Amino acid sequence: MLAIFLKTNFSVSLCLFLSVFSCICMSIISGSGNWRYFIIKRSRHQQRNFLVTMPEKRLFEHLPKCVVPVNYDLKFHPDLKTFTFDGWSHVQVDIQECVKSITLNSAELEVKNVEFKTKDADNALKGEVSYNEENECVTLTFPNELQVGSGILSMEFKGELNDRMKGFYRSKYANPKKEVTHLAVTQFESTDARRAFPCWDEPAFKATFDVTLVMPQEMMGLSNMPQIKEVPHKSDSQLKMVTFQRTPKMSTYLLAFVVGQFDYLEAKDADGVLVRVYTPLGKKEQGRFALDVTVKTLPFYKEYFQIAYPLPKIDLIAIPDFLSGAMENWGLVTYRENALLIDPENSSATSRQLVALVVGHELAHMWFGNLVTMEWWTHLWLNEGFASWIEYLCVDNLFPDFEIWTQFVNTDLAAALKLDALHTSHPIEVPVGHPSEVDEIFDAISYCKGASVIRMLHNYIEDDDFRKGMNQYLNKFMYKNAATEDLWNCLETASGKPIKAVMSTWTSQMGYPVVNKKFCADGKIDGTSPLWMIPIDISTLSSGKKPIKKILMDQKEMEVTLEDIEPTDWVLLNCGSVGVYRIQYSTEMLNCLLAGIKDKSLPPTDRLSLESDLFALSRAGMVPTVEVLKLVQAYVNEDNYTVWNDLARNLANIALLLQYTDYYEEYKAFARKLFEKVVAKVGWNATKDENHLTTLLRDLVLCRMGRYGDESVLKEARERFKMHLSGEKLLPADLKTPVYLTVLSHGDEDVLKTMLDLYEQAELQEEMIRISRAIGAVRKENLIRQVLEFAISDKVRSQDTVFVVAGVTGTVKGREMAWDFVKEHWDLFYQRYQGGALIARLLKLTTENFVTEKMAKEVEEFFAAHPAASATRNIQQSCENIRLNCKWMETEAKEVGKYLKSQVQQQQ
Ligand code: BES
Ligand code: ZN
Repeated sequence: MLAIFLKTNFSVSLCLFLSVFSCICMSIISGSGNWRYFIIKRSRHQQRNFLVTMPEKRLFEHLPKCVVPVNYDLKFHPDLKTFTFDGWSHVQVDIQECVKSITLNSAELEVKNVEFKTKDADNALKGEVSYNEENECVTLTFPNELQVGSGILSMEFKGELNDRMKGFYRSKYANPKKEVTHLAVTQFESTDARRAFPCWDEPAFKATFDVTLVMPQEMMGLSNMPQIKEVPHKSDSQLKMVTFQRTPKMSTYLLAFVVGQFDYLEAKDADGVLVRVYTPLGKKEQGRFALDVTVKTLPFYKEYFQIAYPLPKIDLIAIPDFLSGAMENWGLVTYRENALLIDPENSSATSRQLVALVVGHELAHMWFGNLVTMEWWTHLWLNEGFASWIEYLCVDNLFPDFEIWTQFVNTDLAAALKLDALHTSHPIEVPVGHPSEVDEIFDAISYCKGASVIRMLHNYIEDDDFRKGMNQYLNKFMYKNAATEDLWNCLETASGKPIKAVMSTWTSQMGYPVVNKKFCADGKIDGTSPLWMIPIDISTLSSGKKPIKKILMDQKEMEVTLEDIEPTDWVLLNCGSVGVYRIQYSTEMLNCLLAGIKDKSLPPTDRLSLESDLFALSRAGMVPTVEVLKLVQAYVNEDNYTVWNDLARNLANIALLLQYTDYYEEYKAFARKLFEKVVAKVGWNATKDENHLTTLLRDLVLCRMGRYGDESVLKEARERFKMHLSGEKLLPADLKTPVYLTVLSHGDEDVLKTMLDLYEQAELQEEMIRISRAIGAVRKENLIRQVLEFAISDKVRSQDTVFVVAGVTGTVKGREMAWDFVKEHWDLFYQRYQGGALIARLLKLTTENFVTEKMAKEVEEFFAAHPAASATRNIQQSCENIRLNCKWMETEAKEVGKYLKSQVQQQQ
């Protein structure tokens, strides 16, 4: 028998400067015979001295609700020569209070010929337009009061088909004749529908939409719904007008239309929904994989939600210039090319997995987000957290060999725990107003922590009740809006469990607890109430993967008893890494668990979270890094891809810091030794019909070994690169990244030049992205400079620039040069991305790995002088990371150096 005492008592921080955090302290009180006894404690800790100024709240007001849209009848004529568009709208509105003016969103549009007419009136009222650029609104003022009831508001408007990937924009591509051409496409989430037409651009103003597009005869027009009519233009025989069926009631950010030339593949799903995947001309076969995934996924979600897909068709379309990865416009989902297209010959296993996940994610939004929409952006996490969770369920169903749930722990959970350990993190639910604040929350908290707490919740109430509650929620709010609490209410009814009480502790406060199993002599309890209600699953050697006990730690003190435990058996808290917290074990417990790592009696997710937690705790100064480096040697026989992926990232994070010391070479030797066995095991050649994860593992470990300077990997990579260039033996897609990275990081000007030639010849965006992200591995100053210049040249799309620049930040020299480059070209970057998520990514990626207080100050000072609203929080997070690095360098680096040197001596 094993008794576990749960008490609330003290706390530790994952990050040295964290303000409020909690800790569960599990104490071994005694251990005799076959039972053990623990106390778990935790509590609130006082804030330490760390000052950050939080973003200033920008003034923001919601649109008045006295006039609401019911149906928008819209016509657009994009001109792909002048890059402008004309638009006409007739909006049926409901006047709910007498008003003389109507205020709605509009940005960068010229609005004219405004009229308002009711059915009974003989004449229309003409409206005056006044613009409020700051608030992205127009106010239309009429000579008389508009009476309560229905009326039609007509407007004409004009705008630019911009090249900034938002609103109604243009995207450039080469057609099969290699001529440069353009297409016109929309991206409206979160707040950019107002750049295409004047509208009530808030998610709660749901309405229906009739769309008509005017375009040249040879082009194709697409929108959310199927086409119902195509007629020649009345006055211009070169043009045609295409009209689409009315949409269901939905939010403006989900409207979409595209005009351009495409090929497509089509199929019907089991329920007769027409699915098409649109690709660049001549490349329709690259849509096959996504088509198959979609056709299988729609019925999967229908079954899961118990609600059929509500539209008659769904199109998935690849757009050459695209701001994010993909966008869930209802019935017309837009994607980056590399997130949709798979070339059977030239795409890697990583890409197939990415496409499956992205398709699964966007399709989930058709229900969760589109049918039921968040009330306001504060509840964005409902959309994104949920879709980011269920995409794994979907992929697990289609591709069980991906073991995608294990990967979740290394992707979403790891990202959530990393970001949320910072003082500059934010709660999942965060009040937002101004568009730049909305942009800011499309981050790892909304996506990854959101997905992780849903996973924890799903595990806590189990699938049946979860589905029941989900179904209730979707049925209750379909074609309407909902808030977080609405979902909790439904899940609470379905499960009979205290969902609201438990979940609000995870969504309304930032941070997460640390579960700490160590001996507490005094056993004192302080008076604070628990900060989190923590579902904890406990497993043991004999229970294996399954929990032996599931508890909810909802009070200061709890006692739990486990039967039939041998003192040497491992006991694991948070089995399956389902909880959103970390664990600190006592040395005794850890030693038992290490045995479970070596003999692999611990399942992969737990082997992963064990090292992951240790690295995080060492970063917080709670465990010496040297101890962690000693412990990770237990992983030398590891063969699981996901465990390696996580471990490799954690080791690389230490490498980033040790680059600033004079024992970096020793660290590389240490890392090579760790990877040696697994590299030998996977080798260079894939076997026929190889397991997906083995393919990923080979890519991963060869990349790392190449980077750590392994001679034999370097030699082999160079030979294979040579044969690839001569055409003697082409590199398979899955070996390209390791070979490119290895030859580049040890290469000269010729290698870079060759890679840039390969880039120019590439036709697949996946390959261009692969190359452009790899070239930053070069080490010489003049080559790094070339890469940076290339990143902002017209050879690289704006959507990719940020990642090319980030590619050089892996070395000390490159990192400094990238930051100087950003400062030097600040105006260009700022103009290009005008706020938005990409500039935030750029700034974070180029600054967060510095290691001195001086650099933290420099970054802060630069942005004090050059503010970038949508990146405010990211910059603060970067500076906090820099200071954590700095602290680590001061307190840990020396000891690590001593240890590494002793290791090298031992080997000699
Ligand atoms: N709704 C988002 C797209 C989006 C993101 C629009 C940010 C506006 C601002 C979409 O559903 C999404 O989450 N896309 C992800 C890919 C997904 C698989 C995580 C993306 O774009 O990265
Ligand atoms: Zn999403």
